[in-house]
Amino acid sequence: MSLLCIRPEDRPDVLDEMTREGTRIAALLRTIGVRFERWPADHALAANSDPQTILAAYAAELTRLQRDCGYQTADVVRIVRGTPDTAPMRQKFLNEHRHSEDEVRFFVEGSGSFYLRAGGRVFQVVCERDDLISVPAETRHWFDMGASPHFCAIRLFNNIEGWVARFTDDPIAARFPSHDEALALSAGP
Ligand SMILES: [Fe+2]
Repeated sequence: MSLLCIRPEDRPDVLDEMTREGTRIAALLRTIGVRFERWPADHALAANSDPQTILAAYAAELTRLQRDCGYQTADVVRIVRGTPDTAPMRQKFLNEHRHSEDEVRFFVEGSGSFYLRAGGRVFQVVCERDDLISVPAETRHWFDMGASPHFCAIRLFNNIEGWVARFTDDPIAARFPSHDEALALSAGP
């Protein structure tokens, strides 16, 4: 289940707020300029669907978002459970960074945690199936796919060539609970 945990950036041991409720997650993220939506789960997709089938299944929502925000291109990224040697890939985006473009992801299957740093706090969002998140350009953030990554996500871009990570060299990410720790929380009562 999707989950949002908000902690002070200098006190990762303090939980200011935690919610699993989609409209509450969206409202809290809106305060820092982040778009969060849950798209209807009415698309029956096989686990091994190809990118064209996935994009076609969500064509209406994607068209709306592209029209609203001007995104030019969409693609699909998938990491299946059991993929070998994922540690370097995990580590890269586990370091705090920024992009000059929005980072937009819609989760078709699996999960991952986005960490958004704004206003002296860190917003950890556990995104799962049917969750859309859009991280505005220049927002400090990082992403944890977990020790055994498994996800399939649609990515939207304004300019795919411009989507490069600029690392802040701030070690903040290491102090915060991992995606796997948050998944344990999100499965809780
Ligand atoms: Fe990023």
